[in-house]
Amino acid sequence: ASPAFAPDVEIALVAAPDEVQLRPGARTRVWRFTGSVIKGEASSVQAVPNSYLGPTLRFMRGQKVRIRFRNNLTEPSIVHWHGLDVPESADGHPRFAVPPGAEYVYEFEVINRAGTYWYHPHAHGSTGKQVYQGLAGMLIVTDDEERALALPTDTEDLVCVLQDRTFDSGNQFAYLAGGMMDQMHGLLGATMLVNGQERASFELATRAYRFRVLNGSSSRVYKLAWDDGTPMTVVGADGGLLARPLQQPFITLAPSQRVDVILDLSNHAVGTSVQLRSAPFAASEVSIDEGGMMGGRMGGMGGMAGAAPPNGASLLLMTVKVSRQEQSAFRLPAQLSSYGPGWAEQAGAPVRSISLDFRAGQWLLGGRAFDMMGVAADEMVRADSTHIWEVKNAGGMMGQQMAHPLHVHGTQFRVLSRTRPTGASTPLQSVRAGLVDDGWRDTVLVLPNDTVRLQLRFTKFPGLYLYHCHILEHEDAGMMRNFKVIA
Ligand code: C2O
Ligand code: CU
Ligand code: CU
Repeated sequence: ASPAFAPDVEIALVAAPDEVQLRPGARTRVWRFTGSVIKGEASSVQAVPNSYLGPTLRFMRGQKVRIRFRNNLTEPSIVHWHGLDVPESADGHPRFAVPPGAEYVYEFEVINRAGTYWYHPHAHGSTGKQVYQGLAGMLIVTDDEERALALPTDTEDLVCVLQDRTFDSGNQFAYLAGGMMDQMHGLLGATMLVNGQERASFELATRAYRFRVLNGSSSRVYKLAWDDGTPMTVVGADGGLLARPLQQPFITLAPSQRVDVILDLSNHAVGTSVQLRSAPFAASEVSIDEGGMMGGRMGGMGGMAGAAPPNGASLLLMTVKVSRQEQSAFRLPAQLSSYGPGWAEQAGAPVRSISLDFRAGQWLLGGRAFDMMGVAADEMVRADSTHIWEVKNAGGMMGQQMAHPLHVHGTQFRVLSRTRPTGASTPLQSVRAGLVDDGWRDTVLVLPNDTVRLQLRFTKFPGLYLYHCHILEHEDAGMMRNFKVIA
């Protein structure tokens, strides 16, 4: 810890093995974060009940935060604050991983907009496993602009972390139960958990609620919809509030993306319920394997016991039960926020083209695999500069193609456009129609044959940062690169 840094909030965060009663029978051995407040408001750290999830951390924009992370696991680890713009030393790059028993001190000012962020480990080669074991939590930022809006707060402001897990017969998490296939396509779990709970349900009043939904899964893509036909009302994305609320029948949510959804229950009768489901779509919308080289999961798992439903399966995620009558004067604001500096399209910004492809048995980013300290010439950018990245999902030689959620550290970007070649064979496009490309994002789902143009304004902090596919098995296998921010 540096004596010159005067934190407004100081937190101790420990990662350690634990056991949780997740289902009847044996308790599940998990790894989890627990937190406590050393300095500042007690509400900065809120435990999530009946879960393996880490506590929800709540900060005000402008606060100076110190987090003392202690690794009480049996292997190296480090924490990354996904979506936050922080100095290099606080970003959780895998080269900073600390051994069991050691501590890592983070110090940063919260400069991000009000929004829903999250945290998870980032040790190289074991991020997927560590997240799967339970290491993840939400990080929520608020500010004056948001507070003036009277959106639902406190007990009407809820987190929903969507994860899929495969349990073995002894109720233990079975990481990579699908073997090679899981590594190639990204892991899919057999059981849906919301905040760590199977068949999760919320007992709510006849008022409006804000659900901060995170796709915390390794690779599953959700097509979120309320089962009674209520449209999804979106007020926020990865980097905070949208300019205006958006309504659509369903929302596609890729791994690591967040969406803030308002559900107004004031017209729902007590005793009724609404389900949040992942609506069906064709698995081929997110994964194409013409050559059968990837093992061909598309045909289903052939009735294997405990097999994970494929991407696109219809899934029940959670149930909202309307259990009591309460007066509510909520009205959805027509205007939510202004996107601020960096949003306007900047003519003449340097353009870099990045391919996502599969060669010699490996997923690559711009033709390269991860190298802990390696940075190529086209991966150097000036602090606070604006660039255009043209990310192209052209596929592999044998016709393998997957949707990759591309994530960039230390920034929030704008999706300028999403195009695909005319006559592209992809049998689309319900997943595509549900994408929320509006608002600030730190992760974009690049579908097979799509080219997305991103406008990125890089962090003002110099140093090495990461960009990678957020299918955790792809990230661990090296579909990740550094970029270097130069002062
Ligand atoms: Cu959510 Cu580099 O990570
Ligand atoms: Cu991140
Ligand atoms: Cu990927």
